[in-house]
Order: sequence, then C-alpha cells, then structure tokens
Amino acid sequence: MPQITINGVKHEFNKGETILQVALRAEQEIPHYCWHPGLSVVASCRICLAEVWNPDAKTGKLIPATKLSPTCQTPAMDGQVVYTDSPKSVANQKAVMEFLLINHPVDCPVCDQAGECHLQDYSYQYGRGESRFQEAKNKRPKKDVGPNVLLYSDRCIMCTRCVRFTREVTGTGELMVQGRGSVEEIDVFPGLALDNELSGNVVDICPVGALLDKDFLFQQRVWFLTKTASVDGLTASGDNISVEHHDGRVYRVKPRENTEVNKWWITDEVRYGWKFVHREDRLKLPAVRGMDAFAMEQAPEAWETGLAKANDLVGGAARAGKRLGLLVSPMLSCEDAWLLAKWVLAQDPQAELAVGPVPVHGADKTFPGGFTMYAEKAPNARGVRRVLEALAKGRAVHDAAAFEKALAGGSIGTAVITGNYPSDWVGAGLREALSRVPFLLVDTLPTSLTPLASVTLPGAVWLEKSGSFENAKGRLQGFDRAVQPTDFAKGECQIALDLLAGRDGMRAAAFDAAAVRAEMARTPGLERFATEHHATPAKAAAESDMVLVEL
Ligand code: SF4
Ligand code: FES
Repeated sequence: MPQITINGVKHEFNKGETILQVALRAEQEIPHYCWHPGLSVVASCRICLAEVWNPDAKTGKLIPATKLSPTCQTPAMDGQVVYTDSPKSVANQKAVMEFLLINHPVDCPVCDQAGECHLQDYSYQYGRGESRFQEAKNKRPKKDVGPNVLLYSDRCIMCTRCVRFTREVTGTGELMVQGRGSVEEIDVFPGLALDNELSGNVVDICPVGALLDKDFLFQQRVWFLTKTASVDGLTASGDNISVEHHDGRVYRVKPRENTEVNKWWITDEVRYGWKFVHREDRLKLPAVRGMDAFAMEQAPEAWETGLAKANDLVGGAARAGKRLGLLVSPMLSCEDAWLLAKWVLAQDPQAELAVGPVPVHGADKTFPGGFTMYAEKAPNARGVRRVLEALAKGRAVHDAAAFEKALAGGSIGTAVITGNYPSDWVGAGLREALSRVPFLLVDTLPTSLTPLASVTLPGAVWLEKSGSFENAKGRLQGFDRAVQPTDFAKGECQIALDLLAGRDGMRAAAFDAAAVRAEMARTPGLERFATEHHATPAKAAAESDMVLVEL
C-alpha cells in the first residue's frame, strides 16, 4: 500500500485520498475550516496549508513544492513527506488565525458556540495569543435568516460551508456570499428564507458561532451537556443522532456521523421533533378506571395497583376464555414488542397480534446530495412486525386496520393497546371499537383513548430507554437511554417484565436490552439480533466533565 509521512508519522492511504483525509483518518490533527467531508473542496480558508515534499519520479529524491500546499486539496502521493509543524507552516497558521480574528468580536462569553468552536480551539493551538490590530473592527449585523437559524455576521470566517450545503446537499441555494473583500458577508438571497427541511444542519457545519440554532440559543453552555448516542425515534430513517442533555433534560439533538445511514445530516423534524418528551401533560402515574387518580407521593402504590389490575384484567379475560388482542405501536422498540407479546401470549397463546397505525405523510423525498427524508413517521414498523411474526409462529400478524376490524367484529374480547406517538394518534374507528371492550393502555401522552382505558400505565419515549429499531432499509440499530423516564413513567420493556413477574408472584428483574436481544436471537426468524445488530459506538457516549461551581 502507498505510504505518506506527516510530521514524521507514516500512514498508509487509499488512492484518491487527500493529505488531510489521511491525517484525519489516522486521528492526526491538521487544522481546517472550509473543508468538510460532505461538501466540495474549495481550499479557501488556508489554515490547512503545509510544507509538502514530493519524491522525484525518476530519482525518488524528495523535492519541496514551491509554496505551501492546501492539504485539503492536495492528493496524497506515495513517498510524500508533509510538515504541518515546520516554521513555514506554523507561520502560515499564525497569520491565518490573526487575519480571521481581525474583525471578530471575540465575544466568546456570550456565544453559544463557546466550548465547541474551531476558532476558539485553533486560536489556542495555532494563534499568537495577542492581537496586534489597533484599528476599529468592522461591525456586521445579526440576521434572522430562517425559522430555525440566526446569523451573527461578525463572527463569520467566510468558509462558505453553509453556502455549499444549500447548493450541494439540499439543492435549495438560499444562501450566498454578498460583497467582496472586507465587506463580504453571508446572506440569504432577497425574498428567500433558509427554510428547507434540512436547514438546521448549517448550524452544525458552521465551524464558528456565526450560524446559531434559535431553539438552543442561550439555553445551556455546551460544556454542561452529556452526549448519548441514539437513533431517530420519530421517522423510519434510522438516522444516527446524538442526544445532548443535562440534569434529566434534553437540550438539543444533533446528527451523529454514519456514512452508511445519514452521513452527517438530519432533518429538522428529527432535530426539533423531540420536544413532546418534556410536555407537562405526559402520563406520569398508572390510572385505574373507576378509582381516584393517584397523587405523585403515592407512586409505589399506584404502580403496585396498576400492574395488579392489568394482570387481573388481561389474565382474567384469558382464563374466562376471551380472546386477547395486542396492538404494538411502531414507535416502540423491538425489545418492547418482544416482552409485551411474551406477556400476552403467556396468558393466551392464540392472542391476536398486530402492528399499530403507521403514520405516513406525503412521499419520501431525496435531496440532490443523496439524503432521504422518509414519509413514514414511525421508527420501527418493520422491527415490531418481525418480532411479532417470530412469536406468532405462522399465524397472521395484523395491521392496525385489520385489528380494528377484529375488535369491531367481536373476535377480540380484551385488548392491550400501546401508543407512544408524539401527538394524538387515535382514529375514530379504533376509539369506537375500543369503547366496547375492556383494555389496558400503555401510552405516553393523553389522547381520546385515555379516559376509555380500564387501566392506563405510563410508558417512556425512546430517549428514556434503550432498545433497537429497524429502519426503512431494514437496518437494525441499537440506541441508548439518554435521560430517565419522566416522573414515575417506565419503559414498556420494564412494564412488561413487571407484568410477567407479577403474574407469577415474582419480583421483576431490571430490563437489560442486551440480555433480551440475546434471548430474542435464539428464536427462529430473529437470529439477526445477534448477527446484524448495529450497537451504538462506545466513543459516542461522552459525559460532561464540567462541575458546576455554586458561588
Ligand atoms: S456563516 Fe459559518 S458556515 Fe457560513 S461561511 Fe460563515 S463561518 Fe462559514
Ligand atoms: S481547509 Fe484547506 S484551505 Fe480550508
């Protein structure tokens, strides 16, 4: 394999890779601003310039390039030697940093990007530590460029990542460079707003604090945030995300790079769609129809009563010869589906199993950069169906419409219904059919079904539990719990374990996603839970190391 030497360290590389790509793959830092792996190369910021020596084709003798070369644009060559730490390279880094900071307001204490800003980091690593600039700085305006994004022009370093994103990835081209020289700045074209479905990504790729997320503005300092690796729990994309939270509260969701799934991007619906997680009206305690509502301080009693009543309702119906029906929401994980179905089938092995309603809005949309936004607004319809079919052992697993029909036709005597959708999901037909039978409801938000349920148990949304989803392309991916369930709610998997144990008069074990998957993988049809399951990368889970000092 061809080899290149960067600052004395040898690296093998693949044909076509640039010097910067080789270095970054080997986790050897070369400073860069304008280069981004998902965008075209413009080599305009000049911070990545390095001294490059190429071997002569005939003699093999190393010959220095006549001037510093942009490592983001220069292809790696066999035998090439690169110095980013030579006096010439270092002088360039210092000059570029000094140039970029000439008009920068250096308002880090009030900038949302502080703590994750490349300008700040490179200033420490490659800057000169003091400014020689005596004149007045150019002042530029703050601009409201779209529904989700603000532009603080005077922090911009004109890397043009944002402009290239709107041209190359979304194809919408709302952003442009206006003016030239010292008066050039980023703007939206007259009459346009940055309001495409992927607009929030420009905030992530802006290497400084120029493009900011309105939703996150001044909400939390980034060094207090803990990052947990997760996947999209709202649509069928399976997009990899990082959930950033502090003290039990989610503050933002960002894309997690996965070149096999979402590359570096997520849609705004995934970025902002999690807000219902902290809705005040979340279901927080079990409720039993005909009994007074439990108070928060009665939580242990509420759970004891709720679980016992659920087992009485479902177990009693099965013992009386009534057919049970289980509707598993496509918002639930494969592990949730497995444990809930195990509990229902333990009481009625012939129970009717069904996948809950799968919301579809419009059609899939693929952007010019190849990113697809999915019309299916549920993360796990395929995974839930796969698990239920494995447990049904050849019997049909219904869709929601067939389940509703079976309910209305009287062939289901008692039902177990799961929701967990981000908004009201109950159709008139299902509500009507369920008004005639007793049912256990496991849900997260109040809906028109809540007052009809015989027993209601509060479930947990995907950010509050671990599990696996199968996306629209059949990729099975794990996700980790980011925050604890709200108040006294519990993950559906834990509820099912509690119900199973309660039925046998035992104490339930704590839910362990890996152990449940191992059990699932031993079932014919579910072997892929052992062989094709993509767990979250260990290094994606990052704890905040910042201690809050009370003064
Ligand atoms: S706003 Fe950010 S991404 Fe856009 S050119 Fe300026 S620094 Fe680059
Ligand atoms: S990263 Fe190479 S010139 Fe900007």
